Amino acid sequence: MTDRIRNAALRDRIMSAEQAAAMIRDGMVVGMSGFTRAGEAMAVPLALAERAKTDPLKITLMTGASLGHDLDKILVEAHVTARRIPFQSDPGLRRAINAGEVMFIDQHLSETVEQLRTRQIPAVDIAVIEAVAITEEGGIIPTTSVGNSASFAILAPKVIVEINLRQPLVLEGLHDVFIPTYRPNRMPIPVVSCESRIGLPYIPIPPEKIAGIVITEKADSASTILPPDAETKAIADHLIDFFKSEVSAGRLDNRLSPLQAGIGTIANAVMHGLIDSPFHDLKMYSEVLQDSTFDLMDAGKMTFASGSSITLSAQKSAEVMARFGDYKSKLVLRPQEISNHPEVVRRLGIIAINTALEFDIYGNVNSTHVMGTQMMNGIGGSGDFARNAYLSIFVTKSIAKGGAISSVVPMVSHVDHTEHDVDILVTEAGLADLRGLAPRERAKVIIANCAHPDWRASLTDYYDRACSFGGHTPHILEESLSWHTRLRKTGRM
Ligand code: COA
Repeated sequence: MTDRIRNAALRDRIMSAEQAAAMIRDGMVVGMSGFTRAGEAMAVPLALAERAKTDPLKITLMTGASLGHDLDKILVEAHVTARRIPFQSDPGLRRAINAGEVMFIDQHLSETVEQLRTRQIPAVDIAVIEAVAITEEGGIIPTTSVGNSASFAILAPKVIVEINLRQPLVLEGLHDVFIPTYRPNRMPIPVVSCESRIGLPYIPIPPEKIAGIVITEKADSASTILPPDAETKAIADHLIDFFKSEVSAGRLDNRLSPLQAGIGTIANAVMHGLIDSPFHDLKMYSEVLQDSTFDLMDAGKMTFASGSSITLSAQKSAEVMARFGDYKSKLVLRPQEISNHPEVVRRLGIIAINTALEFDIYGNVNSTHVMGTQMMNGIGGSGDFARNAYLSIFVTKSIAKGGAISSVVPMVSHVDHTEHDVDILVTEAGLADLRGLAPRERAKVIIANCAHPDWRASLTDYYDRACSFGGHTPHILEESLSWHTRLRKTGRM
């Protein structure tokens, strides 16, 4: 334990998960580590859910992003989660959110801690942070994610640390913890390249704030992404052709610009597609580093990746952790407000690739709400990147649910990314380059290039009839959401 808890006095604070969970009381705001299934505290939330069976309590749960190990499901089934901020991807929690049982605040991931620091949302009462080790000075060395952990630990009056013995000490030095100064006199965030290191390799807090230490031994949940299929391969091919044409036009060179790729199967497949491409010396400035990041490094295509978490499939995780020392100098994990910071995204000229559920003929994107009402996961970091990127790209398959749903619709049923934040749309059918196009021009390109052949004629018919009403962005208001209402009534758009 001496290498894991280096401050001898803190070793007295080792306790059981039940004792630590007892510090969490009804009505508290709890800030927990965890970002896209990586680096979450687990023993304390499980003990809390168990305790709630006999001693009911409700909390506001804040994290970096989604949690693994079914934690959100377990907490919601124990009726512990009353409010949830800022992202989730759990089917059980999703059901409770859509039933109105849990209040979910779906936020840009860079924003939560800004609002906490300025007391615009209720303060964190207690932080629960997974760590590899605690330094002599009380610094917390995170595991596979940084997320919001640093600000939670710094802002909370009390911190519980879960030391995870399963996570190797070689992770020490991976993290770069930087907290911006207070506004309005904030200095520029000094990240000037993907590799910039601007902070500390641990979360600095006074040791006396550490109220309890729980020893755990758990693996991260494996990511649930599916392997690439014919459609995602086609999406990747269209994008690679597009990048090649940007290189030919002299706007990019073969190193492209730093890449950000969203969560999920499609974004991961697109990144995989870069393995068989002429591009080289690629860099990422992203949120989540998925399997594709390490596959690109192994293929000699990627030289550096900056993120806020590492979320891998079970097999990839075993491979990466077995030789983490080889990757370490090519990686950095940052707080999510820095990995997603609008100032840095704009400065570095990022190519942002995120996923849409649906987009409309003018380029507005819905990434979160099925049928405009049912929350899927949340906006995550997609908005942080899309608005500020050098190139803002959205990808999706052109149809969903066996063809009953067209992902290209007359009007999106919910808007996450407005037409102003969208440069390029890609489906397996093709790619629409919207740069410099007015809405009427966009509609023609989107329908022709991105819509599935089965839905193209209906979209063209809608657009042509809408034009007869005039307008900068023509619509038939009585009909613009009729595809969604037809889906609800008949099971097909
Ligand atoms: N209407 C209804 N359902 C749709 C749909 C549509 N227009 N388009 C897709 N779906 C369904 C799919 O059928 C699938 O359902 P299933 O889980 O029952 O099989 C599900 O949505 C996921 O779609 P999939 O095609 O597998 O894509 P994905 O795993 O890449 O996820 C998002 C897509 C949009 C849900 C996901 O990327 C997301 O949550 N994005 C928002 C957050 C974000 O972008 N973060 C990025 C910064 S990290």
